[in-house]
Amino acid sequence: MTLADIIPSLRSSLRAPLTQVWPSTAAWGEHGDLTIGGVAMTSVVTAHGTPTYVLDEADVRQRCRDYLTAFGGDGVAYTAKALLSRGIARWLAAEGLRLYVGSAGELRVALAAGFPADRIVLYGSAKTPEDLEAAYAGRVGTIVVESLGEITRLAATAPQGQRVLLRVLGGTEPAEGTDCRFGLRIGSGEAAAAVARIVAQPRLTLVGVDCSVGHQVSRFSVYEHEVRGVLEFLAEMRTRHGVEPTELNLGGGHAVAYSGGDPSLALAAFASRIRAVLRLAAERHDFPVPRLTVSPGRAIVSRAGITLYHVVAVNRGPDGHILVAVDGGMTDCPSGALCGGQHTAVLFGRTTCAQPVRATVVGRHNDADDVIVPALTLPADVHPGDLLAVAGSGAYHHSRASNYHLVGRPPLLSVRDGRTTTLVRRESSEDMLLRDVDERDAA
Ligand SMILES: Cc1ncc(COP(=O)(O)O)c(C=O)c1O
Repeated sequence: MTLADIIPSLRSSLRAPLTQVWPSTAAWGEHGDLTIGGVAMTSVVTAHGTPTYVLDEADVRQRCRDYLTAFGGDGVAYTAKALLSRGIARWLAAEGLRLYVGSAGELRVALAAGFPADRIVLYGSAKTPEDLEAAYAGRVGTIVVESLGEITRLAATAPQGQRVLLRVLGGTEPAEGTDCRFGLRIGSGEAAAAVARIVAQPRLTLVGVDCSVGHQVSRFSVYEHEVRGVLEFLAEMRTRHGVEPTELNLGGGHAVAYSGGDPSLALAAFASRIRAVLRLAAERHDFPVPRLTVSPGRAIVSRAGITLYHVVAVNRGPDGHILVAVDGGMTDCPSGALCGGQHTAVLFGRTTCAQPVRATVVGRHNDADDVIVPALTLPADVHPGDLLAVAGSGAYHHSRASNYHLVGRPPLLSVRDGRTTTLVRRESSEDMLLRDVDERDAA
């Protein structure tokens, strides 16, 4: 028996600490309210409804600064696919990051926000002609080459002097947990063939190499392995082709925690370890130390984002376990490898002395796998109308949200210093009908 069992009123003051997986400005407010960026989340719900994504601007900006401190002035790019809007692109530009875009759509948003084109990198293993045309028209600084065939296309269409990075797979063996790997294999000779083709093209300038080792990687050894493989490759390319590319982008994939105890990448230690490994590898091959850059997505925005839901239904099992259904689900909280781990949620907006019970938070989509939080504790008196906040939804939630069940996608709001700003408005059923072409309208 705990003290809270003897004095139940203690429970409302013993709220879950809002650390590690919650936005850095998250705090408990009056009457069980949750505040982010000095804004009461109950007031956000009143003004904007649910489900709603809320992003802590101060948290995003602080992560940008942490990365810049670790990797230096020009060493950090943000990968847009994790989450992008014009407002966010402006924060990133103001903080001095570069930007990795993977489509003409992401590029358009970045340019519309005034993001400097020369600081944008277009990547993608299957760039479409539209992606490339948008990059040329927008005068994008750098393009990542990810296949041999692409070099021929770029050589014929890119502007004179187009800077390119070559995406390589440096390690001989994909490390555990790094199954999603893109690029030209060093071991198979494909990467060397790509260098030979690029240097033969007068329009293209090979400025460096680029890697992507996976997602949610917390072990430094995966990146160390890549650095050693790449340096050996660069030294060989110097001997064969007389080229000395000066940039090494180690990609992103840095692990973040979704619930207490999850591993995350220790940024400062990672940066100093990788620098040391890079220096040693360069020395070993008598190669000038390349400029080290990284391009994380998740690690910049994941923790800054939360999603607010209303509880719609509660079903109680015979063992006391409760199933709590909310007004969102797999459309706004997509699961799967890219999305990360198991989320954490809290009830907010009221106080309660009820016992904590085991619960599962599920979505509204009538699908067995529509599960938002598989296992957590919630107060036993949780009921329809209650409010839940789910942590860790800044990355790959809004950007991967869908219209399944023809449910409109939630709005994306930012909060800072007591102010709320709408970054992306809620999608309505009108929006969906606009895309639905009715042939009778044409008659
Ligand atoms: C193909 C690809 N995916 C994702 C990322 C970023 O991943 P994450 O959001 O896990 O940091 C990068 C960054 O370089 C990338 O190139």
